[in-house]
This record gives sequence, C-alpha cells and structure tokens, in this order.
Amino acid sequence: MQTHLRGRDFIGDLDFSKEEVETVLDVAFQLKRERALRIPHPLLRDKTLALLFFFTSTRTRSSFEAGMAQLGGHAAFIDSKTTQISHGDTAKEIGEIYGRYYDGIAIRHCDWGTGNRYINEVAQASRVPGLNMQCDIYHPFQILADLMTIFEKVGNPRGKVINVSWAYASSYQKPISVPQSLILQMTRFGMHVRLTHPPEYKLMPDIVQQARDNVRKFGGSFEILDDFDAGFKDADIVYPKSWGALLTTTDDAESAAIGRKYTDWITDDRRMALAKPDAIYMHCLPADRNIEVTDSVIDGPQSVVYDQAENRLHVQKAVMALTMA
Ligand code: CP
Repeated sequence: MQTHLRGRDFIGDLDFSKEEVETVLDVAFQLKRERALRIPHPLLRDKTLALLFFFTSTRTRSSFEAGMAQLGGHAAFIDSKTTQISHGDTAKEIGEIYGRYYDGIAIRHCDWGTGNRYINEVAQASRVPGLNMQCDIYHPFQILADLMTIFEKVGNPRGKVINVSWAYASSYQKPISVPQSLILQMTRFGMHVRLTHPPEYKLMPDIVQQARDNVRKFGGSFEILDDFDAGFKDADIVYPKSWGALLTTTDDAESAAIGRKYTDWITDDRRMALAKPDAIYMHCLPADRNIEVTDSVIDGPQSVVYDQAENRLHVQKAVMALTMA
C-alpha cells in the first residue's frame, strides 16, 4: 500500500499511481463505513480548503463542503466572479496568496484550452496541495467515485467490459473531461474499455494514447467504436453521456448542428437490453433527461447514479485526508 500522499497535488488522473489510487479507495471505504456507524473522523481539524469555482456545480461543491466539515475542517466556497481575478489577480498570485491562507486549493475551471493550465499554474505557485474539481481535460474525483461504485456493484473490475459512450444532449457543449478521465483510469484496472462516439466527437489524441499505453502495462483492452448499439453489446458497465465536439469545433452553433445528426443516441430500455442482464448504468450527472437517457433507464433498477454521486463525498474525503493532514 502506497501512502505517501501528503502535500501532493491531484490534477490529472495519473498523478496518483495505481497503488496510490487503491490506497485512496481503501481509505474511502473506511470513511464511508465510519460515517454509517456515526464514528467521527476529525482528521483535518483546524484545516481549511479553498473551493474556487469558475463554473457551476451541484455535486462537487456540496460534497467538498460537507466532506471538509465531516473531517473537522472548513471549506471556503469562492465564486471566481466575486474575486478580483477579472481585475488582474494572476494564477501565480492566487497560488501564492491562497496557499498562505488555506491548507489546500481546489479549483473547477472548465474553459477549453485554459482550465487545466490555470489549475497547474496555481498549484505550482502554492505551498499547499492543488486539487482539480474538473477542468477542460480531466475530472479525476468523479472517476475515483465511479471506480469505487464499480468495486461496490460489480466487484473487481479486471476483465469487465465498460462502454464509455457519447450520447446526445441539447443543453450545452459539455466538457470532454469525464470520458477522458474514464479511459485513463479504467485502463489501469485491467478492464476491457470501449470508447464509442460519432466521428466528430473524438477525444484528445494524447489521452487516447495514454489509455493504450495503460493496456500494455496493466492488461485488459481498449477499442474505439462508432456504432451506439454495438457499444452496449454484452457490456458489464455502460456509461453513456454527452460531451462537446470540441476537437472538431468550438463554435456553439456548429456544434449544435453536428449534435442534431445524432439525436437517436439516447439510452433507452432497448439499448440496455443489449448489455449483460446485470449490467449497471452509470452517469456522472447532470443528465438531459429523455434526450440523453430515458427516465425508465436512469430511474430504473440498473442505474447506480445516486451511489456514484454519494461516493464523491467518500473519495474526496480520502484524498483530502491523505494529502492535507
Ligand atoms: N458530476 C459533477 O461533477 O457534478 P456537478 O457538476 O454538479 O458538480
């Protein structure tokens, strides 16, 4: 068990080794068990965490705030619009200054081509851990929660088939960070990872290459499909969600026009029946209901979306306790 995580940043999924991710899951299960038993675990008493948001959130903000309180510390929610960042405070200044007030700096910044660079600049300038609450490239805490959920529902993921698929949504160009983080992390656990998307919805080539490299190191397989139904066939885990055609266009109108070619990429009962009978349906939320997925699937017996959302709390507490204590 690798436990040397104190002081470390967690910005990309591969910042922690596979053994370190296993440590995080081990601690997360312990904290989840202790919370169920009402055993207090004030591991971060008197510690503070900055939560700097450049983008909206339901789950991420609340799970970090609740998690810090349960660990005996305090999380400060900071909407970037209420700061002086737009008046000139640089990433270096935020890192230097917040690093002197807080024991950790967590940031959500999803702007395409900007977010990940910003989080890295802040982390490099700060003396405390930098935590990525989602950027344009990665959503690492979501995927830790997903991995924990897979261990709970499916058992050891080695040899299991997961279909990470694009699905249609009309609301907005969602970041590509969730599918990218999924293919990076799941390929380290010996899974058979399918990435299914129409041709315009490619992921970043270097992320896809890292997923392929993981398969060579850890076993399993990685394949890319462009047929929505084929992605579901005999899968153990289906994770169909929308993302933007950001490598094809950053123009919202053009992207919307591309998306309308694929409005039939909706997860419904017929598609779920193509997967294994005991397959689980995963989604990080929010979902465009009855556009991306039908109510009957997301509210149905195979859906584990609320467990995924809950597990955000436990994995984040584990990472905070391990990096900030
Ligand atoms: N899944 C997720 O990150 O949810 P929020 O955008 O609501 O934080």
